[in-house]
Amino acid sequence: MGLTHDPIFQKLEKWYHEHALHLNMRKMFEEDKERFHKFSTTLKTDHGDILIDYSKNLITEDVMKMLVELVNGCFSIIMIQITQQLQIGRAVLHVALRNRSNHPIMVDGHDVMPEVNKVLEKMKGFCHKVRSGEWKGWTGKSITDVVNVGIGGSDLGPLMVTEALKNYSKGGPRVHYVSNIDGTHIAKTLAELNAETTLFIVASKTFTTQETITNAESAKEWFIEHAKDKSAVAKHFVALSTAGPLVKAFGIDPDNMFGFWDWVGGRYSLWSCIGLSIALHIGYDNFEKLLEGAHWMDNHFTTAPVEKNAPMLLALLGVWYINFFQAETHAMLPYDQYMHRFAAYFQQGDMESNGKYITIHGKRVNYHTGPIVWGEPGTNGQHAFYQLIHQGTINSFDQWGVELGKALCKKIEPELHGSSEIHSHDSSTNGLINFIKKNHA
Ligand code: F6P
Repeated sequence: MGLTHDPIFQKLEKWYHEHALHLNMRKMFEEDKERFHKFSTTLKTDHGDILIDYSKNLITEDVMKMLVELVNGCFSIIMIQITQQLQIGRAVLHVALRNRSNHPIMVDGHDVMPEVNKVLEKMKGFCHKVRSGEWKGWTGKSITDVVNVGIGGSDLGPLMVTEALKNYSKGGPRVHYVSNIDGTHIAKTLAELNAETTLFIVASKTFTTQETITNAESAKEWFIEHAKDKSAVAKHFVALSTAGPLVKAFGIDPDNMFGFWDWVGGRYSLWSCIGLSIALHIGYDNFEKLLEGAHWMDNHFTTAPVEKNAPMLLALLGVWYINFFQAETHAMLPYDQYMHRFAAYFQQGDMESNGKYITIHGKRVNYHTGPIVWGEPGTNGQHAFYQLIHQGTINSFDQWGVELGKALCKKIEPELHGSSEIHSHDSSTNGLINFIKKNHA
């Protein structure tokens, strides 16, 4: 049964049609001096309180009551999602990466925690060597700059966190992020760096993502041009991936590879070794504190009652706005400049978890969440566009739309070379390719 058939959902819909037009924020605050207390909750942690104030939303006590009731009704839907997930045979278990309690977490009958901890240990050792200066480049100099080459979850998460935690970066190398396949991004980044003191992190779960592999090849070429010795690559390139053989084929020493697993969705991977650039920048101990914070929130999510459960309350506001107001949720975050990458990071997570939509003439084409942000072509273009055009809004845990996009690009890329006319696609694609060949030779 879909959400729209749920009797509580229908009650909410009725309420919306009868009252929503009369909701007036200023009036609601004037008429109820307790509004802030009613619609806020404080999470007590060992490191201070976290206040979630959602009182400046278009809600009343009745609305919140119905939304909370809806959670119970939703349970059957959640089970359906899990079943779909099992059908594609892939677990969603990024919580294991930050499971600081170490209680066993089983995938296919075995506890994944020992492997998780092993990779964390390897990261710890590596961070110590790089930050202390013990890890030397090919001319015997220590590392001053780290370039993370990745896209999507292999870029946005670490980029957002290193920005947000800049204040903790003392003593760590500078970090740079390259994601855009437009060569200007990597060229501009490399122009300011010294090959002798630069470490490249090639971050790609699949190690097939064209943007990343192309940029990584450019980085390797640039590096070898300076080092004039291929064997020096071992001291300057590490890989973060689930695909050992592809990493080896690229020319990265397997000892310099940090692994993770299929059950980590790309958009949630900053908690895995994909977070290596974070750990290098702020230090491994601080990275571990980051994992602890996330673990705290995971526990809060699974144990707190719905009315006090921060992630659930915010998600319910999303359900309210998206289904009835056809609008975004507006969370009032005490916004700090260091968090300016949060929106792009969150957009990917939301879109790849809840589905994609597109707005045409001011109308949402479906009610799944996730605005398409065109601001960063290299990153969000890939995600939003390929997923939407190839995949539509179905099972959000599976990104076959992007994989199909990658496969198509592989076929088209060689066709762009040479002068022969292309006929192997539909007439529009052929027309576009032939136009580009003719006009941008
Ligand atoms: O957009 C699809 C996606 O698979 C994301 O989930 C992922 O973060 C991104 O592409 C990059 O993929 P990879 O880490 O395999 O290079």
